[in-house]
Amino acid sequence: MSHKSPKDFFAPLAVGAPAPLREIPARPSRAIHFFDPSNPKMAAKVPAMVGTVDVLLGNLEDAVKADNKVAAREGLVEIAKATDFGKTQLWTRINSLDSPWVLDDLVTLVTEIGDKLDVVMVPKVQGPEDIHYVDRILAQLEAKGGVQKPILIHAILETARGVANVEEIALASPRMQGISLGPADLAADRKMKTTRVGGGHPGYLVRQDPIDGNIHGERTVFQQDLWHYTIAKMVDACAAAGIYPYYGPFGDITDVVAAEDQFRNAFLLGCVGTWSLHPKQIEIANRVFSPSVEDIKHARRVVAAMGDGTGAVMLDGKMEDDASLKQCLVLVDLAEELAAIDPKLKELYDTIEIED
Ligand code: GLV
Ligand code: MG
Repeated sequence: MSHKSPKDFFAPLAVGAPAPLREIPARPSRAIHFFDPSNPKMAAKVPAMVGTVDVLLGNLEDAVKADNKVAAREGLVEIAKATDFGKTQLWTRINSLDSPWVLDDLVTLVTEIGDKLDVVMVPKVQGPEDIHYVDRILAQLEAKGGVQKPILIHAILETARGVANVEEIALASPRMQGISLGPADLAADRKMKTTRVGGGHPGYLVRQDPIDGNIHGERTVFQQDLWHYTIAKMVDACAAAGIYPYYGPFGDITDVVAAEDQFRNAFLLGCVGTWSLHPKQIEIANRVFSPSVEDIKHARRVVAAMGDGTGAVMLDGKMEDDASLKQCLVLVDLAEELAAIDPKLKELYDTIEIED
């Protein structure tokens, strides 16, 4: 027999470690804002960002120079100890599992600031075996450090094998909180020919048929989304496992319009948030990953019209039934979760009047 009993899935993996959670709490995480804890200028800004962003993430992996790896780890410990994060979550991205730094990342962070750390993001995940490794070592270190609540795991989907195994990765541990798209590493690993960090590519397109056989004439071109397949696959894997999917980095900080488009596509497909690489992107993410007033107005109207939730009604010539009610409830529930931490949104949603 190769499978473990479902009961054992919820037993701690080390004596003295906290019991695994049975459900991943739906905590708002519209923007996961990356900072480099080895960069004193960036680190100094962190305390003032508490409350302005759902997640602050101390990045130890790519974008931190090899010479700064230890300073980044130590900087994160210092910031975490000195800061009261309130409702803002603190995450970290550890170095990859084959790197010389990851073991010390885990040992130091969990034993020093384990009670402050909500989620550990694991890069370049290839399969469930990577999650099992982190799962066990987190339990051992939680026990050693006397950590009270289990630290959750977030995987980055950025290898071809990871994409092939995404369902197994999502189900690999009760610690699995979510998965993000890692378009830069994924493009390299798959040998895609884009050199951008996330976003589209003008060469990836479809073209309108020729008019009157005029092949070289005016033909409308539509740029396509390079990431649609991967995001959709990730969303299904996450939804099936009861965990949360995210867009990832959008590297062109100046192109706020294209960033917003990519974020909104991800939101519409089922993602709950994205990464932010610059404070500018936090505002975009908070807006895009919160249901709009129009969405909530419509959703509440359907909820009211559907009474006990069964049967069908016509609203503005459109059929609404049990299933479309469930679609509306996704938005209404999300709005409630977000309003609970975001007073401005609460005010916005509270003032919505439902029409008959
Ligand atoms: C993120 O880590 C990426 O590689 O895109
Ligand atoms: Mg990467």
